[in-house]
Amino acid sequence: MAAVNILETKGLTKTYGGLDANRDIDFALPRGDVHALIGPNGAGKSTFVGMLSGRIPATRGQVWFDGAEVTRLPAHKRISLGIAYTFQITSVFAKLPVRENVALAVRRILGRDRAAVRAKVDGVLERVGMVDQAYQLAGDLSYGHQRVLEIGMGLAQNPELFILDEPTQGLALPEVEAFKNLVNDLRGETTILLIEHNMNVVMEVSDSLTVLNHGEVLARGTPDEIRENADVQAAYLGGV
Ligand SMILES: Nc1ncnc2c1ncn2[C@@H]1O[C@H](COP(=O)(O)OP(=O)(O)OP(=O)(O)O)[C@@H](O)[C@H]1O
Ligand SMILES: [Mg+2]
Repeated sequence: MAAVNILETKGLTKTYGGLDANRDIDFALPRGDVHALIGPNGAGKSTFVGMLSGRIPATRGQVWFDGAEVTRLPAHKRISLGIAYTFQITSVFAKLPVRENVALAVRRILGRDRAAVRAKVDGVLERVGMVDQAYQLAGDLSYGHQRVLEIGMGLAQNPELFILDEPTQGLALPEVEAFKNLVNDLRGETTILLIEHNMNVVMEVSDSLTVLNHGEVLARGTPDEIRENADVQAAYLGGV
């Protein structure tokens, strides 16, 4: 039977020199949820998801995906298990057309079956609203469209868990609205873990939130619970 929690961590810790960027993080993500990870700059959010995706090796602690331990599994193996992620820094292939960027991601799961790849690429471009940009070089796109393309490249892998590191950073308002719609459209199809500073996005799309501060979990709850949490107010939300 599939595990109830698609992802769990126990005691997950990352130490850089003398600094614990993450310290003893126990975390569970129920399958199908849209969960947001928030917290001040330097709180350890990117470090945490880096250890989930396998890009950053854990100093100690464990990560389980779908009931199996993946703590020492390399990133590409985690991708093939169904973990997709987008980086905080945009990382599309600037010299390739949009279509080809998506096709590279699709081939990771579909191999080289050309008709199947083409159909899947078309579906992804449609879904993220980039049909009109399909033949532009990714490097010529606006910053906002590059971010949307990255989301498309993640979706192209049919992820079971989709991790997004600040997907709306630098997006214009209509693009932020489109992003919220996309998350709602994906609800039920994939589990989403979202690092996000835009509280409007967080409060609207997430089922639950975890607040990190100084590398530790400060609070966890529903959007309303987090909004009313005095510790969170003091550490992060301030006047929100
Ligand atoms: N490669 C590294 N070497 C040394 N220290 C690092 C490294 N990566 C991150 N850190 C430190 O670890 C802490 C957590 O950083 P991290 O990038 O995870 O924070 P964040 O919550 O994602 O912040 P932001 O909101 O600014 O993206 C910070 O103090 C950062 O300076
Ligand atoms: Mg970060």
